[in-house]
Amino acid sequence: MPNSLLNRVGGAARRLLFGEPAVSKTIRGTGNLFQAEGARLSNVELDIVGDRNRITIGEGCIFYNLKFHIRGSNHVIEIGKNCRFTRSGLIWLEDDGCTLTIGQGTTMVDATLAVTEPGSRIAIGEECMFANDIDVRCGDSHAILDAASGKRINYAEDVTIGRHVWIAAHTVILKGVTIGENSVIASGAIVTRSCDPGSILAGNPAKVIRSGISWQRERILKSE
Ligand SMILES: CC(C)(COP(=O)(O)OP(=O)(O)OC[C@H]1O[C@@H](n2cnc3c(N)ncnc32)[C@H](O)[C@@H]1OP(=O)(O)O)[C@@H](O)C(=O)NCCC(=O)NCCS
Repeated sequence: MPNSLLNRVGGAARRLLFGEPAVSKTIRGTGNLFQAEGARLSNVELDIVGDRNRITIGEGCIFYNLKFHIRGSNHVIEIGKNCRFTRSGLIWLEDDGCTLTIGQGTTMVDATLAVTEPGSRIAIGEECMFANDIDVRCGDSHAILDAASGKRINYAEDVTIGRHVWIAAHTVILKGVTIGENSVIASGAIVTRSCDPGSILAGNPAKVIRSGISWQRERILKSE
């Protein structure tokens, strides 16, 4: 089959035609749990090196092209009901005892969510809407040192994204940030500081450009 045609064949049809597995698993370790009953998974990849990691995906979730890259042990990933990754995603956990939670009804077009350093956490609330090309990370992955003392200055800090937050395309959320519920992060923002509920954050580094807002998925036309 020519590539152009192949690209147009959807996930379900590809599985039917070519036997492509819904979930491919490469697991080295013991006691790892992956639970996804009632979820629709297409081209989901599970790559685990470690023990006793627990991944639970709620019913009604629909994930396309999502990769779980897990290194280390005792991590917990909990994704609530009816969440979606509609294009692709990368969930990346390293070290030990990290937690990623995503509340029910949250949708992502294409996101990388990286939880690193022992005991770290990223918590994403319910009914959030992430556009494409989003990067959320609670650590920097490498150490920056104060030259005089030799001490590290950039330890990981937890990230909390409140309920019903809209994250526009091409944004980055960095360590230590808490985003209040009902907020909107403007496209291209690099978020390094927290904001109150109902804020619009924009720019690099992101600043509050408006307060006292909310938002909804449905468009309201001028004529309405
Ligand atoms: C966040 C957003 C919705 C805000 O829209 P808005 O409330 O109509 O904002 P405005 O266009 O009135 O702009 C208000 C101010 O913020 C600035 N601003 C708006 N968007 C900005 C951005 N992405 N980065 C930096 N500044 C921005 C404007 O220049 C303006 O500044 P000024 O008052 O000094 O002139 C919009 O900026 C955005 O990011 N849209 C993209 C949404 C998206 O990715 N959708 C994909 C589907 S989920």
